Amino acid sequence: TRTPVNVTVTGAAGQIGYALLFRIASGHLLGPDVPVNLRLLEIPQGVKAAEGTAMELDDCAFPLLRGIEITDDPNVAFAGANVALLVGARPRTKGMERGDLLAANGGIFKPQGKAINDNAADDIKVLVVGNPANTNALIAQAAAPDVPAERFTAMTRLDHNRAISQLAAKTGAAVSDIKKLTIWGNHSATQYPDIFHAEIAGKNAAEVVNDEAWLADTFIPTVAKRGAAIIEARGASSAASAANAAIDHVHTWVNGTAAGDWTSMGIPSDGSYGVPEGIISSFPVTTKDGTYEIVQGLDINEFSRARIDASVKELTEERDAVRELGLI
Ligand code: NAI
Repeated sequence: TRTPVNVTVTGAAGQIGYALLFRIASGHLLGPDVPVNLRLLEIPQGVKAAEGTAMELDDCAFPLLRGIEITDDPNVAFAGANVALLVGARPRTKGMERGDLLAANGGIFKPQGKAINDNAADDIKVLVVGNPANTNALIAQAAAPDVPAERFTAMTRLDHNRAISQLAAKTGAAVSDIKKLTIWGNHSATQYPDIFHAEIAGKNAAEVVNDEAWLADTFIPTVAKRGAAIIEARGASSAASAANAAIDHVHTWVNGTAAGDWTSMGIPSDGSYGVPEGIISSFPVTTKDGTYEIVQGLDINEFSRARIDASVKELTEERDAVRELGLI
């Protein structure tokens, strides 16, 4: 029998945590034959609610769930961690400036990065979900000098999935017929969902759509502002779809992309496509055997170039701001 994989989830008592933990425990994160130990990290006020969720996890009698540990100590939570899902973050509250938001999250992600550095397993893979996800991932990565930088990733898979869904609705195609969609840049309103290299049942998606006005005025803003539209409709932010995307991100990272397709992940840039090295930006990537590679050689047209550059500019500004705050 396989040794259980240790999966640490922060913000476990939050709404994404509630939608996420049951799917991890039922085998959707890593595969139907991989047992897991769950480590739940919460702040002290969240521990009791996490204990309640753990009672429900027990009550599911999941065959793959081998243990649950709940703690408010990052060093305990990340001990031996093979996969870490950093979901807990400080939300932006009314009147909060971006600098305050970055500083507040630095207070969370810097110590968590250090705790990962000092305690996690050698094969640790980190996904940051908590916003601002790309820059939080950069802060955690900078605090973990002994961990290869490429193990720190940020989630743009929800944006990727949203874009596929919008494109399927527009063209009448099946979701499963859409391949090679790309989210570039930041998980924010500046993100750029790119269909110029995407395929719909083997045909170029931009040619199938053949409507640049729809692309610029409907598709891109709908995908980029979908989070706000969910809040408006549901009265709470995306949780089940965010949890689903986190499952997809890690599952794809561990188990590989299908032949003829790729995915989108926020990863430390190696300078590809003119994105400054080191910032954590979303790219098209293929994955295999637990590693990923940026898809190279794509032609970037003017329409795409301007939008990628705008989102990357925002990321470099966030990097400069956290550098100034001494967080990286
Ligand atoms: P939530 O507020 O329901 O839950 C957050 C939980 O994190 C709370 O239980 C809180 O006690 C906990 N927490 C706060 N600081 C912590 C710390 N230092 N250590 C451990 N736990 C801590 O929020 P929700 O809806 O679950 O969302 C979580 C994050 O995910 C937010 O930052 C949200 O903006 C982000 N998000 C990101 C998406 C993406 O696509 N990248 C999509 C949707 C949400």
